[in-house]
Amino acid sequence: MPIEFKNVSHTYYPGTPFEYQALRGIDLVIKDQSFTAIVGHTGSGKSTLVQHINALLKPDSGEVRVNDYVINHKSKIKNIKSLRKLAGMVFQFPEYQLFEETIFKDIAFGPKNFGLEGKELEERVLKAIKLVGLDETYLEKSPFDISGGQKRRVAIAGILAMEPEILILDEPTAGLDPQGAKEMMNLFAEIHRQGKTIIMISHEMDYVLEYCDEVVVLKKGLVAAQDKPINIFSKAELLKGLHITPPAIIDFANRLIANKLPIDIKKVFDIESLISEIVRVKGGNK
Ligand SMILES: Nc1ncnc2c1ncn2[C@@H]1O[C@H](COP(=O)(O)OP(=O)(O)OP(=O)(O)O)[C@@H](O)[C@H]1O
Ligand SMILES: [Mg+2]
Repeated sequence: MPIEFKNVSHTYYPGTPFEYQALRGIDLVIKDQSFTAIVGHTGSGKSTLVQHINALLKPDSGEVRVNDYVINHKSKIKNIKSLRKLAGMVFQFPEYQLFEETIFKDIAFGPKNFGLEGKELEERVLKAIKLVGLDETYLEKSPFDISGGQKRRVAIAGILAMEPEILILDEPTAGLDPQGAKEMMNLFAEIHRQGKTIIMISHEMDYVLEYCDEVVVLKKGLVAAQDKPINIFSKAELLKGLHITPPAIIDFANRLIANKLPIDIKKVFDIESLISEIVRVKGGNK
């Protein structure tokens, strides 16, 4: 089922001098099994928005629907644990939340909380650590004795071990080296291929273009645009107004087009596809 936001507003510290309305009436449908990017200028409300999906935050008006759950101002969600299992949230810099003595215990924490134990729990942890590209020799290590990128993988494994249907990622590649970031994106693409819905906040438009099938642009607590990545990124004027720098590959393709190379911009999403387009318009072989 899709995730639906109906006229959702959220105000931090209402009724105090710090009052700030971060969401101002969000209407949005996030498609089931999509890989949706949430983008927008700093402070536009991205993190606030996604935290409504598993009821970490509640709307002060309007409602959010996630499967059978209805999250509104009044709702006391009976089965909040299973909502949190359904929609797994990876916060920004999740490695700061590692705390157990061993990596095994850290990854096992979530599924254990949901009642998994014994062999089943062990298998789940093993599956999760392999999924993030680490081998089982890590399991008995301390999460504090590994590199930053590995810590991030362990933290993500802890969420994947709960096997959420919806995976929410708040800037998952921030601070990673290009190789590490690419591996991380490939991991999410694989999870997406397995039929999960992925919602990713990102400032990295190259990844959004290459991996996502839908983009939601927020501006000052409202949805300013929602479309397929290429439809958003090919509109230079729209992007300017939204403080979004287009992916480098689109910028480059647009310059070729301005220089009279009739490339079909809708077919460009990475270097390979741009090369194919250039070869095509030049009349060469693919
Ligand atoms: N816990 C909080 N208390 C008070 N105000 C907050 C809190 N969290 C966010 N805000 C404010 O709400 C607005 C939206 O914040 P949010 O974190 O959702 O933005 P964002 O789009 O995720 O930004 P960034 O790209 O910088 O992460 C900002 O103006 C921010 O200052
Ligand atoms: Mg944020």
